[in-house]
Amino acid sequence: MSRLDTHRGRVLLTGGAGYIGSHCCVALMQEGYQPVILDNFANARRDVPDRIALAANGPAPQVIEADIRDRTVMETVLAEGGFDAVMHFAGLKSVAESVAHPERYFDINLGGLTVLVAAMAATDTRRLIFSSSATVYDARATGGAISEDAPLGPASPYGHSKLLAEKVLLAQAEADPSWRVGILRYFNPAGAHGTGHIGEEPADPPDNLMPYIAQVASGRRARLQVFGDDYDTPDGTGVRDYIHVADLARGHVASLAALERDGRGHVVNLGTGRGQSVLEMRAAYARVSGREVSFEIRPRRPGDVAQCYCDATRARAVLGFEARHGIDEMCASSWSWTRRREGLA
Ligand code: NAD
Ligand code: WQD
Repeated sequence: MSRLDTHRGRVLLTGGAGYIGSHCCVALMQEGYQPVILDNFANARRDVPDRIALAANGPAPQVIEADIRDRTVMETVLAEGGFDAVMHFAGLKSVAESVAHPERYFDINLGGLTVLVAAMAATDTRRLIFSSSATVYDARATGGAISEDAPLGPASPYGHSKLLAEKVLLAQAEADPSWRVGILRYFNPAGAHGTGHIGEEPADPPDNLMPYIAQVASGRRARLQVFGDDYDTPDGTGVRDYIHVADLARGHVASLAALERDGRGHVVNLGTGRGQSVLEMRAAYARVSGREVSFEIRPRRPGDVAQCYCDATRARAVLGFEARHGIDEMCASSWSWTRRREGLA
């Protein structure tokens, strides 16, 4: 019996100070695990651990400041840490940046993963949960809900870096069956912790829809640009599967439990199984925040597809996971985080 069966284990969270990692850290603490964050703070603020403590109503997690590409450090951390599992969030995530600088994405997302896997192998740490993405699918080749068996075919260097990382992990698990790997393909994470203490630190200007809408609601930006209203969707705007980041965090805890319970790995979509349009998201945010969210219709954004939402059947079957929160809760939590962050609270 592994240590995860007998008591809640120690889990190393690479990139644990980031948006998704910080929410998973809170969820793990609340489930009785001992998360330890390893982050180089390239895209996270230094006060995140203290804010995690506020959100979890517990102690601040231990933090190791390091780069996942440093093999010596990674081996030392894993050799000395006594970790039962690793959750690997660290990486870069901008599709547009990856087109301009693919070398950064292959260096960190693929090279960093390879270093991590080698360090784990050298220290007999064989449980890993990996942040993959719906971007590994060939969304154009898929008509409706995307299942895990849908055709793969990323459209950007970012997507390729994620798909190659998946292949590295699947090869490792095949070569050594004592490895158990959970590959989680996130659809569109949105929202923040219900306490408003942790949330996303978006790029400036934000790449993604929800943080952009939040900044229009707060008055930082004049209006939302809606990229296309002539898609073959109910209102003509793009449809995506937005999943509350707190649900996503529960999905990680469920994945960890399933690795132990089932004795083997899994590849699972994490989404709600439902799609929302850009205009539906805008309207929900305006309603929930009580703020004006002006918008203008702009041309389609290159590379976008009309719709992308998941088939959530396998997540239910394998993880016993189902998203609980809807878009109003995503908007409300994003709004309390945005107000606190921008000093409007
Ligand atoms: P994020 O940028 O908020 O978090 C990533 C964290 O990794 C940051 O804290 C950053 O400082 C850290 N980091 C980056 N490079 C590092 C390095 N070389 N060494 C150590 N730490 C490093 O991003 P996020 O939204 O929390 O995403 C987490 C993971 O989930 C990423 O792998 C991302 O590709 C994946 N993902 C995100 C989304 C999304 O929409 N947010 C969707 C699908 C998949
Ligand atoms: C959502 C919808 C836009 C901004 C990206 C990555 C994907 C994953 C999640 C990491 C689309 C529209 C957006 C705006 C708009 N990340 N939009 N105005 O493109 O589905 O996915 O983030 O793995 O890999 O590609 O998310 O939030 O950028 O866009 O109209 O200012 O909102 O056209 O229909 P996307 P998004």
